[in-house]
Amino acid sequence: MNIMNKKERAKERREKRSQEISHLRTIPYSDYQRWWSSTTTAVVTGANRGIGFEIARQLASHGLTVVLTSRDTNAGEEAANVLQEGGLNVVFHQLDIVDPLSVNSFAGWIQETFGGLDILVNNAGINFNFGADNSVEFAEKVIETNYYGTKRVIKAMIPLMRPSAFGARIINVSSRLGRLNGRRNRIGNIELRQQLEDVDSLSEELIDGTMNTFIKQVKDGTWESGGWPQVFTDYSLSKLAVNAYTRLLTRFLLDRPDCEKICISCCCPGWVKTAMTAWAGHTSPEDGADTAVWLALLPDLSVGGKFFAERREINF
Ligand SMILES: NC(=O)c1ccc[n+]([C@@H]2O[C@H](COP(=O)([O-])OP(=O)(O)OC[C@H]3O[C@@H](n4cnc5c(N)ncnc54)[C@H](OP(=O)(O)O)[C@@H]3O)[C@@H](O)[C@H]2O)c1
Repeated sequence: MNIMNKKERAKERREKRSQEISHLRTIPYSDYQRWWSSTTTAVVTGANRGIGFEIARQLASHGLTVVLTSRDTNAGEEAANVLQEGGLNVVFHQLDIVDPLSVNSFAGWIQETFGGLDILVNNAGINFNFGADNSVEFAEKVIETNYYGTKRVIKAMIPLMRPSAFGARIINVSSRLGRLNGRRNRIGNIELRQQLEDVDSLSEELIDGTMNTFIKQVKDGTWESGGWPQVFTDYSLSKLAVNAYTRLLTRFLLDRPDCEKICISCCCPGWVKTAMTAWAGHTSPEDGADTAVWLALLPDLSVGGKFFAERREINF
């Protein structure tokens, strides 16, 4: 009974916030808020479908130039065509985030074609579990894509981010499942959790090392007693790594001289009806894309290093 009430209350809160957000989306940005122009260039990864496609559509609807990227050329061209036919300024380019050659060639093309970029939305991601499943059969692939692939794209794009008085932006589409201090889904080892939480002890070696330890345990069959997150373990860890990497980069990116600052943040789109959830979930792709688009267009850089869902800050 109590649990039912809790669930119902959560549902009510969710629906209320969803209505508020739908309303917020209808309010046009004022001239004062619109720091961007039609030459402001946003790159979205994994944008041929799902949340990425919606992020591309919404950003282009706000008048930006959007580079819709996809690992599959046919799927990407088809998706870009749909948006172009709707009158939006969308250009397609192939980008497979796990393929260094593809990332390099994309970097060369963006530099040559646009002289750089202003916004990067790292949306591409994979997950192989549904419902109560928790298989780690594809753990290496999940971490390689969601964490190392995202990191590869960030590293390749940072030098290409155009200097601007408004700052450039990187938004990582992450997940609440990757929270360090999630109540029901977190790393059991308190010391490791604290090291990952404390920005002074956080390092790329620590994040990579944590992923390597997990993968090694998957390979030798000991991961179940490793104290890892209990829900969608491989996916949760991959997003935990993305979140930690976001926090690690923040200081360095915001410490850059004025006009060269890059604001990096991450967001959870909610549980969204896309292929990733087998169209389960209670959020539409439109609503799921909303926070990433809102972060990309915010006029100030105060969101750097923070984690958001439904346009509100949440804990890492
Ligand atoms: N749906 C949810 O409830 C939910 C919740 C929290 C977070 N997220 C995150 O939201 C993001 C988008 O998910 P979604 O729900 O829209 O899933 P989706 O419909 O499965 O879309 C995922 C996208 O990522 C692309 N992708 C996968 N591997 C790639 C690679 N190596 N290089 C480039 N693109 C690649 C996919 O391309 P293909 O079409 O070629 O496979 C697809 O375009 C993901 O990062 C996901 O983890 C989703």
